[in-house]
Amino acid sequence: MQRYEEWEHFRTKKKADKLSFFKRNGRLFDILYTQQFDKEFLAHLFRISDRIRTIAKTQKGLNFLRTTLSDKRAMLFFVQPSTRTFMSFLNACHILGIQTSEIRDTSTSSEIKGESPEDSIRVFSSYVDMIITRHHNEGFAEKSAWVLNTCADRSVPVINGGSGKDQHPTQALLDIYTISRAFADMGGIENKTFTMIGDLKRGRTVRSLCYLLALYRDVKFYFVSPPEFAMQQDVLDFLDSKKIPYVVTDDFTTSITQADGIYATRLQDEYDSPNESKYIDFDRFNLTAEHLPLLKKHCIIMHPLPRRNEISVEIDRDPRALYWKQVRNGMWVRAALMLYLFERDTLIDDYVA
Ligand code: CP
Repeated sequence: MQRYEEWEHFRTKKKADKLSFFKRNGRLFDILYTQQFDKEFLAHLFRISDRIRTIAKTQKGLNFLRTTLSDKRAMLFFVQPSTRTFMSFLNACHILGIQTSEIRDTSTSSEIKGESPEDSIRVFSSYVDMIITRHHNEGFAEKSAWVLNTCADRSVPVINGGSGKDQHPTQALLDIYTISRAFADMGGIENKTFTMIGDLKRGRTVRSLCYLLALYRDVKFYFVSPPEFAMQQDVLDFLDSKKIPYVVTDDFTTSITQADGIYATRLQDEYDSPNESKYIDFDRFNLTAEHLPLLKKHCIIMHPLPRRNEISVEIDRDPRALYWKQVRNGMWVRAALMLYLFERDTLIDDYVA
């Protein structure tokens, strides 16, 4: 079989049938979608993230962290715009001593001369020990990992930093870490209701997060959006298969009053077909200070950012607003993830302050 046909065959398999391909010796090797994670892995990652953030409080601790992966190099191949994911991976690399290279625009790489993205990935793997990608194409990270695992002499882990409208697994990791910390004294994530608002059809962060929240007992969802941008059937089918209740609605007010957690997302109009979102009223889904009295006292308010008007800036001062915490948590979680992938996570336990 030709390589291209092999990829097409692999691509169309069910996720569940692909997972073992991206593991080595019982551990995750590539990080591509949130269906790869289970509760045990998440608990481990939360613990490592907590340890890193504590150790990083002192200069001695930071000096120690810088030695943990100082023999490693990472490539940040971010050809779709990014602030947080790029910066948090870059700074997580700095914290762990990883040397980095980057390409952020294919007009400055040899793709402009006709080199295929797959060949580019193989070239990167010749120089570095890990590739982190952000790409506008769905499935790009998965294909990159498949190419390296199948065709290349030198296979290195691939981390998906956002692939088109599909998935953003490391955002989901930082989101679930933030949620776990917020509900640590309230019985954990179990038995909570999450209201997801915005462009749910094309919002990869909310899609990825749903798969993780579904790991916890007795969670419920409200999916609030204009009908044109409702949550896609693949996620709803998954929730059905797990018997997780959800409501698909455009009733904003009722949905926010029921929530233990609100997760707002922006309109993803970079993916619009002509005029696709032009005549849709998104403002009726914006959370403003006037809504705050309607929320439960403990209701956390999250957003992956960047935001436009989905959450009014007046809400930033409310202690329930966690989106700035999400940003910083992303750095700790991504550092923990990289330590795990290089099998150095146990080093963290050996550190004595
Ligand atoms: N949340 C998020 O992915 O932000 P960036 O697009 O800025 O990386």
